[in-house]
Amino acid sequence: MALVSTRQLLDEAAKGGYGVGAFNVNDMEQIQAIMWAAKETQSPVIIQASRGARKFAEDNYLYHLMLAAAELNPDIPLAMHLDHGNSYETCESAIKLGFTSVMMDGSLKADGKTPATFEENVEVTRKVVDYAHERGVSVEGEIGVLGGIEDGHGAGGSGLDHVTDPDQAVEFAELTGVDSLAIAIGTSHGAYKFTKKPDGSVLKMDLLLAIHKRLPNTHLVMHGSSSVPKDLQDIINQYGGKLKETWGVPVEEIQLGIKNGVRKINVDTDNRLAITGAIRKVFAESPEKFDPRDYLTPARAAMQKVVAQRMVQFGQAGHAGDYKAISIPDMAKGYASGLLVTKPLVAAK
Ligand code: G3H
Ligand code: 13P
Ligand code: ZN
Repeated sequence: MALVSTRQLLDEAAKGGYGVGAFNVNDMEQIQAIMWAAKETQSPVIIQASRGARKFAEDNYLYHLMLAAAELNPDIPLAMHLDHGNSYETCESAIKLGFTSVMMDGSLKADGKTPATFEENVEVTRKVVDYAHERGVSVEGEIGVLGGIEDGHGAGGSGLDHVTDPDQAVEFAELTGVDSLAIAIGTSHGAYKFTKKPDGSVLKMDLLLAIHKRLPNTHLVMHGSSSVPKDLQDIINQYGGKLKETWGVPVEEIQLGIKNGVRKINVDTDNRLAITGAIRKVFAESPEKFDPRDYLTPARAAMQKVVAQRMVQFGQAGHAGDYKAISIPDMAKGYASGLLVTKPLVAAK
């Protein structure tokens, strides 16, 4: 199966009532870990790369690794997504490279730090939607701002500083025509999301439910959705790491989200933790080793295990063979003809 659009994956997920994990990558081993997990669980999957990842891996390496992933897994629907595009130009360059899906994160200005105004967000997102849809590429927008900073990206602060306003979410979806909508409900990027197991005072699932009620057919996206499991923290600390005690987003809250319109779930940190723990273990237990394969093999296996577990928990497992790929040029025709609806259904308050 060639690379497919995220829009197709999420439309199918909505029909099947499940969520699709979107896992971040920077290198070949991470792509392999995801594809092996997808094969193991027969899951459709979204692989995503941030601006930092594109810089680290170099665009062409990344793109050709993704092509290899598609080529080696003809039975797995696979979308290649740009995570947190900061400007029209970043999204345009990703689309020119061959990404089948982009996120225009207009919730922040192009510096990736300063919260943008609603109008600025609408303007840049609409511009990306027009360009992307003409080429059959899907677009994720963001309304509200997540907490934390990853690789210099993010407004910092708590996840509660700029949570999504449901009325603005409706207006944003109507004005932009995005295929999916990332919302801010108290989560942050990175390992330090919550100082104790989150309850409704910090993880605003009520807000998610309110947004879903107003936009019942819109594919919602949960960012900052690593669960930061204690066992992965413990392995790192057992082998010389210095992680402070922390909590992520419990899987059962994500599952509640999936029952209420969440179709894409972004996970990066859990995989970073799994990789780091596995590498630390080898370094601590076998300090004589220096062949990178000796530590990258268990690191890759540790990530595969986490990804496969999430695929089962999000419900995408077993759905790889449900449908045939729609080519990207055919997606473009679908947008042009109006067959692919971009006006959201809005329910009364
Ligand atoms: O959005 C955050 C993802 O975890 C990607 O992080 O920007 O450090 O690559 P990054
Ligand atoms: P985590 O840091 O919780 O894994 O979030 C990743 C993310 O949202 C990528 O866009
Ligand atoms: Zn994110």
